[in-house]
Amino acid sequence: MMKILFACAGRRENTLYWKLKQSKLVSKIYAAPGNAGISLFANSVNIKADDIKGLANFAEKHHIDLTVVGPEVPLTLGIVDEFKKHGLRIFGPSQLAAAIQASKAFAKEFMRKSHTPTAPFQIFSEASEAISFIHSAAMPVVIKASGLAAGKGAIVVHDSDEAAETIDQIMVKKIFGEAGNKIVVETFLKGQELSVMAFTDGKNIKMMMPSQDHKQVGEGDTGPNTGGMGAYCPVPFVDDITMTQIKEHIIERTISGLEKEGRNYKGVLYAGLMLTETGPKVIEFNCRFGDPETQVVLPLLKSDLADIFIAIADGDLSLIDDLEWFPGASACVVLASKGYPGKYETHKRIFGLRNYSDRKCYLFHAGTRREGKNWVTAGGRVIGVTAVDKDLQAALSKAYSLIERIKFDGMYYRGDIGFRANTHVKSMGI
Ligand code: AMP
Ligand code: GLY
Repeated sequence: MMKILFACAGRRENTLYWKLKQSKLVSKIYAAPGNAGISLFANSVNIKADDIKGLANFAEKHHIDLTVVGPEVPLTLGIVDEFKKHGLRIFGPSQLAAAIQASKAFAKEFMRKSHTPTAPFQIFSEASEAISFIHSAAMPVVIKASGLAAGKGAIVVHDSDEAAETIDQIMVKKIFGEAGNKIVVETFLKGQELSVMAFTDGKNIKMMMPSQDHKQVGEGDTGPNTGGMGAYCPVPFVDDITMTQIKEHIIERTISGLEKEGRNYKGVLYAGLMLTETGPKVIEFNCRFGDPETQVVLPLLKSDLADIFIAIADGDLSLIDDLEWFPGASACVVLASKGYPGKYETHKRIFGLRNYSDRKCYLFHAGTRREGKNWVTAGGRVIGVTAVDKDLQAALSKAYSLIERIKFDGMYYRGDIGFRANTHVKSMGI
């Protein structure tokens, strides 16, 4: 039986925690620092997820068998390298490999070199050069801060004035801080977005089921981007041909290309994709699990997650059988605070939070806090309600009917999660 230290930020980690807890291999989980949802069950440790030295000391002192890292920041700061120096077992990519998320400029150059399909692009370190380039660029284009910007660093612009203003905001006014020292300007891709995550030890790859996020705040995909308003899994319009293309042309090429550069990738690779008329193309890579994709993919995973994490941390995923999945589908609807992703109020009492797991419904906490016996809101995205059922329609109906029991002042959610599921997408060669 194992003791696990879980470096986490909340949200998707709530789902990872829930899944790890089901493992026969796990006796105790420490969550550092965790959130209110996790702290109900796990042993909270008051160390921040990016306090690498603090976490390593804790792992040594408490004889932790495996450390699992949820968010990207500690990975990009080199937590895995530090743990390895101390001979500590850890699940996640090295700092060099995590550059695939830490630097969009690096990721795009790497995709060009490894012939991984992605949007055509240019990289700029000088605002003036970027501005003179966009005057001759075909619109719309997407302007992205190269560094980490908590998912907010990509802006679609429709004319050169808007582009020049955006470049000024990112590179001169530094709205994303140092993350905007370099920008990527890329062609706008048309198509359906899809998220695919894969487990890998740097050589062997096991693909997870595809899912679809809903990034925009408004129904019908309108309004500003958020951290994700809902998701579902699997995605009916993704056929086997498309999944094979994604595996061979994107995931395998990336993992083996990184390996060739001495960037050993162990962990989860998340690919945000656009299914275009000429095949799947990469929009972004993340070096960790997706949010809210994790909330719909893991409830369908039958295999033991701790078993997978250990095999990867020990460097041989081929020791694990093929991933097993539960039949059916899952859907997650995010309950948010009115005003999110702009300004919103917190401290609203939440009613109706119960354990609905006997109905295969799971409440994954994000921005909640416990005050005495009550739950109150403590963030923009408050709770993800995931339901699993025989098909997507049944899962969605279950999630929405459960939401009727939950209430807080200013509760907002999208009523159209899964609306693109019936889209017809032709699979194409690359
Ligand atoms: P990113 O931070 O790179 O994941 O971008 C955030 C969101 O912006 C994506 O999920 C897409 O909805 C949109 N986006 C980014 N790049 C492109 C692109 N090249 N074409 C179309 N939409 C994009
Ligand atoms: N769903 C997008 C992300 O996890 O970054």
